[in-house]
Amino acid sequence: MKIAIIGTGYVGLVTAACFADLGNRVYCVDSDRKKITALKKGNIIIYEPGLEEMVKRNMKEGRISFSTSIKDSVRKSDIIFICVGTPSKDNGEADLLALEDVSQEIAKNINSYKLIVEKSTVPVETGEWVKKTINGFKNRRVKFDVASNPEFLREGTAIEDFMHPDRIVIGVESAKAKKILLDLYKPLNTPIVVTNIKSAEIIKHASNSFLATKISFINAISTICEKAGADIEEVAKGIGLDKRISREFLKAGAGFGGSCFPKDLSAFIHIAEKMGYNFNLLHEVKRINEEQKNIIIDKISKLIWNIPGKTIGILGLSFKPDTDDIRNAPALDIVNRLIIQGAGIRAYDPKAMEKSKKVLKKNITFCKDAYDAAKESDCLVILTEWNEFKELDFKRLKKLLKQPVIIDGRNIYDPKMMKKLGFVYTGVGRKV
Ligand code: UGA
Repeated sequence: MKIAIIGTGYVGLVTAACFADLGNRVYCVDSDRKKITALKKGNIIIYEPGLEEMVKRNMKEGRISFSTSIKDSVRKSDIIFICVGTPSKDNGEADLLALEDVSQEIAKNINSYKLIVEKSTVPVETGEWVKKTINGFKNRRVKFDVASNPEFLREGTAIEDFMHPDRIVIGVESAKAKKILLDLYKPLNTPIVVTNIKSAEIIKHASNSFLATKISFINAISTICEKAGADIEEVAKGIGLDKRISREFLKAGAGFGGSCFPKDLSAFIHIAEKMGYNFNLLHEVKRINEEQKNIIIDKISKLIWNIPGKTIGILGLSFKPDTDDIRNAPALDIVNRLIIQGAGIRAYDPKAMEKSKKVLKKNITFCKDAYDAAKESDCLVILTEWNEFKELDFKRLKKLLKQPVIIDGRNIYDPKMMKKLGFVYTGVGRKV
């Protein structure tokens, strides 16, 4: 099939590369000229395992190309995926300006039947707006359909998630749109849930909100575990083996971040409010997540006493492992709060250093590895569970640290082993 992908962020680029890899012809569009120039040379500006190689291979085989022209790409394609950003406004509401612009551009250039699919995470009723906009701005008497096909891929495992999803959701209003999307996704051989457009839009918000709720739930339980002398890892296993609950997203720690959960929670709260429902449950999910970062800071001050003037080694800055993404990363919030309190930071992250350097400028030294971050630090704080932090040379670390103190904000170490190695150790919700 011939597909236009408008917006080359994480979702757009991964979707484009994967559809091309499945044999489709994909035209990628972005208004950012610099990005398109880089992509034309095969330079992927984001770090996503396997993506660069996949894009380059499909470029070579002529199945994927990049341009800044919506016009050309719309005319050459049968299906148009809108993957532009929907950032949060100050009040939490999703900002849909880019989506409106793109809808108008599509309308002006539509020359034959097109299926226009929203893939960006959008509030319910956006599909209606896209339809109205296209109807209002199109010049020709051509037919089109709008559909919703929310994306569930995670950064760091995006290609695997795209190629092997648990399910695909398509929200459609016509038999033609349904057939096109069923054919497009047929090679993935996965369950497809067909709904109306509004249900598909709500499914995306409800999924992310539910997953965020699971994380805040387990973080709340971890606080109770600490107070009661129980161990959150045992408790999470004990409840998670119940298939109705499942073990996924029950990892207690420094809280959730990223470009999706915090933004989508705020947007869903806003949508619900607009419809007359006060989603207090999600307000609480957000509050617990904020509190989790303070809990880490309290742990630091409990173990090293006063924070002003201390040097704190930080391992991990990205919002989760296997990505260079630092958007809403709990690590950045924690580092900023420590700096404000007067600490000096020695930080290391395997992939997120460049991006962090742009936002963290004062009282921070970016280090070459975990050992460098530990050097002369009063404690070491784990904020992202990168694999390379899991098996460090602890004897060497102990020698480098000013005080043998580890605050494990992602529960990657065994408390008993750390104690045996002579560290003063604390995790989140763990029995020491
Ligand atoms: C999330 C969803 O998982 C995807 O299904 C969805 O497509 C995507 O948002 C989106 O809306 O685009 P992502 O933000 O890439 O994906 O990352 P996750 O793996 O979901 O992790 C989000 C945050 O939760 C991270 O900060 C992670 O450290 C934290 N987390 C996750 C926990 O603290 N505990 C857990 O058990 C799981």
